[in-house]
Amino acid sequence: MPVYLDHAATSPIRPSVLIHYSKALEQVGNPASVHSFGQSSRQMLEEARELIAASVGCDRNEVIFTSGGTESDNLAVKGLYWQRHAQDRNRTLIVTSSAEHAAVLDAVNWLVTEQGAEAHFVSMNEDGVLDLAELSEVLEKRSDQIALVSLMWANNEIGVVHPIQKITELTRAFAIPIHSDAIAALGYIPVNFAASGLSAMTITGHKLGSPVGVGALILARSEKLTPVIHGGGQERNLRSGTPDAAAASAMALAIKEAVGEQAHLQGLHSRLSARLVSGVRQVAPEVKFSSENAPRLSNNVHFRFPGCLGDSLLYLMDVNGVSISTGSACSAGVSSPSHVVLSLGANSDEAMGTMRITFGHNSTEADVDAFLEAFPKAYEGAKKAGLTRR
Ligand SMILES: Cc1ncc(COP(=O)(O)O)c(C=O)c1O
Repeated sequence: MPVYLDHAATSPIRPSVLIHYSKALEQVGNPASVHSFGQSSRQMLEEARELIAASVGCDRNEVIFTSGGTESDNLAVKGLYWQRHAQDRNRTLIVTSSAEHAAVLDAVNWLVTEQGAEAHFVSMNEDGVLDLAELSEVLEKRSDQIALVSLMWANNEIGVVHPIQKITELTRAFAIPIHSDAIAALGYIPVNFAASGLSAMTITGHKLGSPVGVGALILARSEKLTPVIHGGGQERNLRSGTPDAAAASAMALAIKEAVGEQAHLQGLHSRLSARLVSGVRQVAPEVKFSSENAPRLSNNVHFRFPGCLGDSLLYLMDVNGVSISTGSACSAGVSSPSHVVLSLGANSDEAMGTMRITFGHNSTEADVDAFLEAFPKAYEGAKKAGLTRR
């Protein structure tokens, strides 16, 4: 049986969600229509909104449905920037980090190159821990120029968890909007929007066992943003387009289940990760385990193998029935060194030799057995590929 250990890329749909989603897809009606079909779809959508609000600790009116994490990140970063900048032309600075997901980083970079924004990337140490003293300093010195802060809750690649509450405490005094991409965190560590002090938070369904193509931006009621998509005025006028009620309903169930079993899964994933790390270390004592000295996600294990090609390792594990990831984005089949690993101060050789294993809702001890069985041979092969590359 092939083993799937790439839940941070996408997680298999939960059996309960599949049944629920298939049934929901039978519902016809645009949620904006006045007739009874439309009203039934509206009810499905609003029930999904309520369930998500209860699961992530926000008000139902604060849930804006989108097509996923990428859209939510773009809406938050561009929308908050445009809003703040329109109110005060001096506000051109975006405070973020260079280890953010591309959905945030590229939105920020676009605002810089096309819209005259400026970015400040908060430094990190070699474990990916953000320099909060530097964040404080930039807030103190440039608060009247900052349009927004965007810092992810947990890193999807290396698994480091950032102290979001501390970060929002630092920004609170300056009344600057603060967004966090909570995709890697939700369902894997406790996440509560109201308690977090955030102004906006990105979530997506497919990392937790819902269909792909649905997500949400949680936006505090007090916060305003300029929409990216214009049209029929759905979702508080912030995200036009006919909402996908069935997908929203499926995502709501997946999030409810994930949050409900989060504490249990955290325990299981910690045990699986510990076994996997010690098994890999026996075979490859030279391996670096990323963010080892930092608070980290228990479902994420991220290694750097100096002199070894991550792509070869991935391929050799895959042909032996174990699907893992290098962790870095790969566009059009061409892989490049991980921007996240580079931002930790690693060289490009190290950033090409990465391996990420992420557990999810259906991971078992048997998955780790299969991994540890396939790993030694795959590692030997990948080391040879690394040598020939030099
Ligand atoms: C941290 C993070 N942000 C954003 C995204 C993009 O989300 P989506 O695939 O729903 O567009 C992902 C998914 O890869 C992610 O891991």
